[in-house]
Amino acid sequence: MIGCLNHVAIVVPDLKKAALKYQQTLGAEVSEQQELVDHGVKLVFVQLANTKIELLHPLGANSPISSFLEKNPAGGIHHVCYEVDDINEAANILKDKGAKILGDGEPKIGAHGKPVLFLHPKEFFGTLIELEQR
Ligand code: CO
Repeated sequence: MIGCLNHVAIVVPDLKKAALKYQQTLGAEVSEQQELVDHGVKLVFVQLANTKIELLHPLGANSPISSFLEKNPAGGIHHVCYEVDDINEAANILKDKGAKILGDGEPKIGAHGKPVLFLHPKEFFGTLIELEQR
């Protein structure tokens, strides 16, 4: 069902410093900073040849990643995102197989304007999984 790795998301304590480190130490191509108010994050993309890394930092008081940063003050990998062809079909397959979709169980529009869903890290070996429709 899952296809390409779309991105790996890393929560960082200082977005500017993290972007500079990827640029200057790793020689990576890093996008301008974007603020996604609705999703409570600001981010930069690190564009790699075969995928991308998202460096995320909380935005606003109710950011969904604030508690992650509190627990991981130095930063850490937050989730991996795999692509699927059809998010509703994926959701049905997952429900059939007994996997729990976070939230109300329905796909939502994600940070890239495409439908996404999240799967609980307890069911997937300690990794929060995002599925995004291609
Ligand atoms: Co993501």
